Amino acid sequence: MASTALKQILSEAQVQAGVRRLAGEISAHYDGRPLTIIGVLTGSVVLLADLIRLLDMPLRVGVVQARSYRGAATTPGALTINIESLPEIRDCDVLLIDDIFDTGQTLAELVVQFGRFSPRSVRSVVLLRKQGRSRVALEPDHIGFEIPDEFVVGYGLDYQDAYRNLPFVASLEASELAEGAGA
Ligand code: IMP
Ligand code: MG
Repeated sequence: MASTALKQILSEAQVQAGVRRLAGEISAHYDGRPLTIIGVLTGSVVLLADLIRLLDMPLRVGVVQARSYRGAATTPGALTINIESLPEIRDCDVLLIDDIFDTGQTLAELVVQFGRFSPRSVRSVVLLRKQGRSRVALEPDHIGFEIPDEFVVGYGLDYQDAYRNLPFVASLEASELAEGAGA
């Protein structure tokens, strides 16, 4: 996990400009209506913290947990979702927020599970979308950046729980990715 294996693909300034653009899109869409933002742990925490401080509107924040990576694996494993911490969302406008849309399995499953609680609406925002990877019909409503199909870290995204604190987004060279571990 030497830092020399990191190749920056989005600078801190680019990421921050993308987050400001997302905040503008979200503010315009909800137009002052109260919003419930639900962060998908753990990868969304950095985007969540930055984005909510740019939203000048009535806002509630909650979290759910989803894990699709196990150990050092960089390909998706079985999806585990824990919605015990979900706040009341009946009749609420809900915005799901995640770090990256890869196969789309996580967000698609969360949208289905949230539907059981009769929210007014469920939309989604992601910082990154990997091109050519989606396996679901769902499209995120707000996308910060389209990126190539590479394993990336930083700004919340991890490899084996490391790198989440990087203020930029970088790809990790294949030589650094061990088989069978990750998050
Ligand atoms: P999906 O369900 O396949 O869309 O996977 C989404 C989840 O997988 C994200 O919330 C991330 O936690 C994780 N993930 C997917 N691609 C990457 C990556 O390139 N780096 C780090 N985590 C990733
Ligand atoms: Mg995640």
